[in-house]
Amino acid sequence: MQTQKKIKGLRLILKTARSQGKSIALVPTMGNLHEGHLQLVRQARERYDFIVCSIFVNPMQFSENEDLAAYPRTLEADCESLRSESCDCLFLPCVKEVYGEGLEQQTSVHVPGLTENFCGNSRPGHFEGVATVVTKLFNIAQPDAAFFGLKDYQQFLVIQKLTHDLALDIAIHGIETHREESGLAMSSRNNYLSPQHKEQAASLYRCLQSCAEKIQQGNTDFQQLEEDAKKELKQASLKLDYFQICDAQSLLASTTDTQSIAILGAVFIGKSRLIDNIRLQRS
Ligand code: PAJ
Repeated sequence: MQTQKKIKGLRLILKTARSQGKSIALVPTMGNLHEGHLQLVRQARERYDFIVCSIFVNPMQFSENEDLAAYPRTLEADCESLRSESCDCLFLPCVKEVYGEGLEQQTSVHVPGLTENFCGNSRPGHFEGVATVVTKLFNIAQPDAAFFGLKDYQQFLVIQKLTHDLALDIAIHGIETHREESGLAMSSRNNYLSPQHKEQAASLYRCLQSCAEKIQQGNTDFQQLEEDAKKELKQASLKLDYFQICDAQSLLASTTDTQSIAILGAVFIGKSRLIDNIRLQRS
């Protein structure tokens, strides 16, 4: 696996790969890689010839009171994992390489509509940071495809929309959430949780599942279902950020006509804020 810290160097590597007729897939991450991330690399590996994974803890998507400085950095283990997944290239830029002129004067990418609610509401500026860095990574690598996790479903939709709106010729793949045995979605932020907190946190997925089951059984009283779930989360001592049954494309509140549904949940526990979701099709 080649490691490249510079944009120029990465472009040269990719130019060579392209000239050999290889298709290129990008897997953007912030490191501290777990099975969920590696699943993305594996899926990319199956479909494309040359796999680039980026590790960049993007300051633009963290607000001042968030965990940028404390975000887990485990580069050596990450390199080891990527090598064992036969990743071809690791792009590892520093902040100066990505934001040479600083964040103040950075041109940014705003994706209207999808970014106003849920994580966008709880984390002002977050999606602008995500959309900007992902657009930059897309322009740097110019891949044929990019892989993202459906765990961050709102982020996935935002990236799909920006790719479409900015007419980028990149196939966006969404990969199912990888979970612990308890059902807890794998996340770098799970490292902040004690074993007891981890157990409590698994209730978020259980609530999502039970809500999805009730909808599948024909229950369309979405408001009541949301209230029930919120009560259950409270009983599990999880502090609610949001729990909502939405249209899976627009993320607007579900109506009885909505066929394709996403149930989105976010809770605070210990020092962490955890998100998860379930998507389902109403028949
Ligand atoms: P990060 O949290 O490191 O996640 C990198 C990618 O891994 C994202 O697409 C995320 O959805 C996916 N992922 C995380 N946990 C997963 C799980 N349990 N199962 C499947 N996929 C999972 O998301 C980011 O970084 C950043 O916002 C980024 C897109 C890199 C932009 O900075």
